[in-house]
Amino acid sequence: MEIPESAQKLEVMHLTKVDAGVQLSCQMDDEDVVYGLGEQMRGMNKRGFTYVSDALDDAVHTEDRHSLYGSHNFLILSRKTQPSFGVFVDDPGRVAFDVGETKLNQMVITAGPDCTVYFIEGESLKDIAKQFRRLIGRSYIAPKWAFGYQQSRWGYVNESDVREVVRRHQEQGILLDAVYLDIDYMDNYKDFTVDADKFPDFPGFVNEMKDQGVHLVPIIDAGVKIEEGYPIYEEGVAGGYFCKDEDGEDFVGAVWPGKVHFPDVLNSKARQWFGGKYRWLMEQGIDGFWNDMNEPAIFYSEKNMQKVMDELLALKGKNIDLHGFFHMRDILLGLSNNPEDYKSFYHDMDGVKIRHDKVHNIYGYNMTKAAAEAFDEIAPDKRTLLFSRSSYIGMHRYGGIWTGDNSSWWSHLLLSVQQMPALNMCGILYVGSDIGGFGSDTTEDLLLRWLQFGVFTPLMRNHATLGTRQQEVYQFENVEDFRNMIRIRYGLLPYIYSEYMKAALDDELYFRPLSFDYPEDDHAAKVEDQVMVGESIMAAPVYTQNATGRYVYLPEDMLLVRMKSMENKTCEPMEKGHHYVDVALNELVFFVKKDHALPLAVLDEKIKSTANMEDVSYEWICHGDGPVEYVLYDDDGISKKYVPQKDWKKVIVDK
Ligand code: GLC
Repeated sequence: MEIPESAQKLEVMHLTKVDAGVQLSCQMDDEDVVYGLGEQMRGMNKRGFTYVSDALDDAVHTEDRHSLYGSHNFLILSRKTQPSFGVFVDDPGRVAFDVGETKLNQMVITAGPDCTVYFIEGESLKDIAKQFRRLIGRSYIAPKWAFGYQQSRWGYVNESDVREVVRRHQEQGILLDAVYLDIDYMDNYKDFTVDADKFPDFPGFVNEMKDQGVHLVPIIDAGVKIEEGYPIYEEGVAGGYFCKDEDGEDFVGAVWPGKVHFPDVLNSKARQWFGGKYRWLMEQGIDGFWNDMNEPAIFYSEKNMQKVMDELLALKGKNIDLHGFFHMRDILLGLSNNPEDYKSFYHDMDGVKIRHDKVHNIYGYNMTKAAAEAFDEIAPDKRTLLFSRSSYIGMHRYGGIWTGDNSSWWSHLLLSVQQMPALNMCGILYVGSDIGGFGSDTTEDLLLRWLQFGVFTPLMRNHATLGTRQQEVYQFENVEDFRNMIRIRYGLLPYIYSEYMKAALDDELYFRPLSFDYPEDDHAAKVEDQVMVGESIMAAPVYTQNATGRYVYLPEDMLLVRMKSMENKTCEPMEKGHHYVDVALNELVFFVKKDHALPLAVLDEKIKSTANMEDVSYEWICHGDGPVEYVLYDDDGISKKYVPQKDWKKVIVDK
């Protein structure tokens, strides 16, 4: 790439040509803060590490990881002495952000030669984020029922498993809106099939659940099983819809079903074909999906497996020493998601042949786009729930995400708090983490604390992997604490939904770091474990084991709200500054900003899910010396007829 002279020294960052493509660099002052980068490891302030956009299926999210499932190349450099700015590096290949790892005060972004870089200036951090959001388009809007509580587990195999989950929630009076169908609902992990032994009357079952207010949400995986007689496979081959290897043959990788082909979702015809396949499930009453393994994850490729097998066979009977053993281990571990495999297949981008690794980070995006474009045809007036594991900026227009395979670790509860504002900056508003943790065994206190943050995340889903401790809330001793916490979520729903919708329709952030609201407050920029949620609330979740409270920083006088249940609630004004706040295990604590209010739904006993919440009345929590105005957004929650901003309802709340 030739770098135009005018661009050699941009006002904010230096641009240089390197072997990999281009490098953008700038100096940071000690007190500068870097926000953004979406789904990544480490804190809200990204300084001190290198983050790599290179979508990866890796279930061990330890601090040393550089890449997760999503690639969100937008950051904001918040500066004290000079104007702050945002930078978006639009490059679907690998991009590295060295945010002060190599040199404490230097940021270096390395991208490919064909990247497009956007600099965004603005009056404030909020304004920079908003302008970026304006640039990338309106965020996806989920149906209202998808803001209810949702239960998932890899391990619900058949309809009696699902019935049991629903029955036990109901028996315990736990509100519930959705149950997820993980890979076992399919016939041998084949996309767009349902195992008839496990679900003999699938549409009947979907309706039976819906009658109880429960939506079933099946998973769709990226890989299509190679099997003669399986229509999706046969159509894909006949239509030329799969990614090709160097020789022009359909590329063979392996995931859950064994050998698979990957639909070439970067090709508009293939995308249309694959998206159209969701119709079959929608015709059976399904109105929500989660797209998975779409980095795409590859357990192994046929070619690499052959190579590894040959090497292993050559070692048979040999005395394997240290080097031999490590080599053997490395080649086995290197079978999955191998960078060489990603260089060995191609897309046909409507006539342009392009090697996968150059566009790796937009595969999941395009799988989700395939589904969303199809929904626009199949159910044009209705919102369909859709979220994805892998994503790239731009996908936020088609669906949300969940943050992938976290673990039942306290540190991952904090990580999830820190990821939320960064994801919102990148347009991803419909988001949540696997509550309770996906991998390893959860504990009662961890799950309860996680739910206390989960009451604020638009996607509130409890999900866990095969073989771990059963994690449905009714499995635990103090079920009433869980029941109350989930009920509080439904109480907060008018606020959560209203704030979500306003954020989506007006390109605002639903989750914000404190410094976005309190830019003049130097301490606010240092707070890593509290977030603003919508316009009125500051959340300060407890995220450490055995804690009976925590230190909280109030950037202004706030109202502390304590809720043990919808009926047991107290409010206490608190002064600006540092406080130690006791938070019992069965208590939700949050803070309300000065001159702000929020609605709470009055829940009667007949409410089992969002389906019975149409006519709820509100009570208000209000923090002001006099009357306070709150803009309450509401709509039917399912159509795409959003209320225009001029008609948003202003409510005057007087305590
Ligand atoms: C992946 C997903 C996880 C799912 C599992 C089985 O690990 O991230 O959520 O449960 O696959 O489908």
